[in-house]
Order: sequence, then C-alpha cells, then structure tokens
Amino acid sequence: MQLERDMSRSRSAPLVPLGTRALLFALLTLLAVLLIVDDVAQVERESQGGRVHKSPRPIRLEPTPGASTAVRVEPTPGATAADGARPSGNWTFNHTLANTIRKDILRFLDPVRDMSILRGAVRPGDTVHYVLDRHASTHISHTLYRLLPSAPPLRRQHHRSCAIVGNSGILLNSHCGPRIDQHPFVIRCNLAPVEDFVEDVGSRTDLVTMNPSVVQRAFGDLLTEEWRQRFARRLQALGGSVLWVPAFMAKGGEERVEWTLNMIHEQGLDVRTAVPSLRLLHAVRGYWLTQHVPIKRPSTGLLMYTLATRFCSQLHLYGFWPFPLDPAGQPVKYHYYDQLTYQYSSSTGPHAMPLEYRTLRALHRQGALQLHTGPCM
Ligand SMILES: *[C@@H]1O[C@H](CO)[C@@H](O)[C@H](O)[C@H]1NC(C)=O
Ligand SMILES: *[C@@H]1O[C@H](CO)[C@@H](O)[C@H](O)[C@H]1NC(C)=O
Repeated sequence: MQLERDMSRSRSAPLVPLGTRALLFALLTLLAVLLIVDDVAQVERESQGGRVHKSPRPIRLEPTPGASTAVRVEPTPGATAADGARPSGNWTFNHTLANTIRKDILRFLDPVRDMSILRGAVRPGDTVHYVLDRHASTHISHTLYRLLPSAPPLRRQHHRSCAIVGNSGILLNSHCGPRIDQHPFVIRCNLAPVEDFVEDVGSRTDLVTMNPSVVQRAFGDLLTEEWRQRFARRLQALGGSVLWVPAFMAKGGEERVEWTLNMIHEQGLDVRTAVPSLRLLHAVRGYWLTQHVPIKRPSTGLLMYTLATRFCSQLHLYGFWPFPLDPAGQPVKYHYYDQLTYQYSSSTGPHAMPLEYRTLRALHRQGALQLHTGPCM
C-alpha cells in the first residue's frame, strides 16, 4: 500500500535534471569509495599490529587499571559465556552508557539513512561494486529500483525496547517466545522460520534480514513450484514488516536477490524491502575498531545491534550463543531451525563469533544491553 503510493509519487515528478543527478551520484560514489579505502587501510593497519586511535572509545578489550572507560571486554578466549550473561536480580540498564554508545555510533554512520539505499539515490542500470568483493560489480535492476524505499524505512521511529533475535539453538526449550513478542519492535535474522517455534522464539517481526543464500539453503533455490510457494508464503507472512536484504555485500547472490524481488513485485507481497547502504559495513567496522574490537566482517546480529541503538532505548538480545555447548554442557545447535554446523572461530566460520560475543557480554555487564541466554521463566 505504502509502497504503491510512494512509487506513483516518485514516477510523476523528477525533481532534479538527470545530468545533475548523475553527477551527484558520481560524487557520492567517489566519496563513499574514499571512505571505504580509508576504512580498509585502517583494518589492514590494525591487522598488521598497528593501532588505530580515534576519539570515542567507551569499550576496551584490555582493561587498564584506573582508567575511566565504562565497558571492558576481557581478552580471555577460553571463558565461555556461562558466567555473567544471565540477568541477575539487580541488573539494570545504564542509560548514560547507552546514550554514549548511540552518539559514538552516530559519528560513523546514520542508522536511519544507512538502513537502506533510497530510490532517489540511484537509477536502474547504475553499476554497483560489491562491498566485500570490490572487483565484482552488478547493476541496479528495474525491479530493485521499484522496490527500494523512497524514504528511510524506520524514519522517526523510536521504541522503549527492542528485541534482536539471533538464531542460536540456545533458544530451543527457552520458552522465550512470549517475552520476545512483548517488545514493541522485534528484529530477526536471515528469514529464520518462526511458525514451528513460536513458544521459544515468538512470532512478532518488525524487521527481518535475508542473506541471498537463504533462497538456496532454505527454499530449494526455488527450483520447484512447491518451493516457490513456500517462499512466497514465508514472505507474505511478514505482514508489512521490513525485509532487509544485503544485496550488495558479496557477489554470488545476484540471481537470488532478483528472484526474490520479482516474486515480491509480481505477487504484490506485503513486505517493505530495504537494501543496506554500501557504506554500512565499513562504517560499523570502523566504529568497532575504535572500541578495539577488530571485527573484519561483522555478523548480521552485530550489524543489527549497531543499527538498533539508534531506534531503541533498551536493547534485548536473544538467541546469541556462539558455542557448541550450553552452560550445563549439553550440545547446542548452530541454528534453532536447521542442521547447519559451523566452527565458531573466525578461521572456519564466516564471522568472529567469540570476539563478538565477548563484546556483547561486556556490554551486558555494563548495562548497555541485556543479553538473554537462559530460559525465560
Ligand atoms: C553508567 O555508565 C556510565 C558511563 O560509562 C558510568 O560512568 C556510570 O558509572 C554507569 N552507571 C552505573 C549506575 O553503573
Ligand atoms: C547485587 O549485586 C551485588 C554485586 O554486584 C551483589 O553482591 C548483590 O548480592 C546483588 N544483590 C541482589 C539483591 O541480587
């Protein structure tokens, strides 16, 4: 509905002459590339043992005695998360700290704007270089162009509390569903199924991410009519929430993105598509680098936390547990809904999960967010 209205509006009146727009776009692209090159250089310096210092840094990997910074992440990789992540009786949110973090993040990115490329910023046929594969490029298709939002999807939203639901098997038998659904805004990752897991994961979804590879992994690459229908039903079930598709992160997902968008378009499915800005990943990485958390490729969960600081006063994380065993020593599935297995270390899996987790746990201890890892009863 909303989309239809916006689309007809933008079709009627091109405000800026095409030549100017192209020039503007070229300038913005150049700026983005410069920023990215700068960020990449930073990451490289960091990984070569150099240190990057920028001003804001409330979070640190190594605690320095006597220093006044608020958040400390212990450098002990062996310490699994059994300790400290569970809310205790007198755990409280530290709004001062949360505000500091929000402000620091805003120096690197504007979550409202970087949440999605807007239709006004691109044209069909524009070349886009993949964020993680700079040598490969693709084009803005007509369908993508049509489905891009004309205004930032979460503009002017602010919520008292938000839940970010990770996909760890730790959620199974947690009975956290009702608690999760109580939050006025719920973010989920990678189009994780909820239907058969409502008791443990809830069903409310205001924003859900979708890596293009999900089409292949969870929907049979849409090879049969049955898979296509299943996929369409899953999207339709989103009921107007934001579908966040990192279409330009890594090459290889082009067709799947296109199939998805065509399906949404042709069947008029009720979702609000968003495609993260090309600078988002580098900006997020830049922020965490200044916190001395050198994450080369932030997970969707960490991206969502970083973005959500902007929209949410209190952030609650569920289903974040990058360990093969639970605190009682029982095996934990990588995802609550499938049989995928991964190592959790950065050398084999795609992300630096233990480091991310230590960071989140430190933030939890300091009261910047609440990490729920136990059952909700
Ligand atoms: C909250 O965080 C701020 C900034 O890090 C810190 O100075 C303050 O002591 C914290 N307050 C509480 C109650 O922990
Ligand atoms: C509150 O926390 C302190 C230390 O962090 C602990 O010693 C105390 O037992 C806690 N009180 C309650 C009521 O949980």
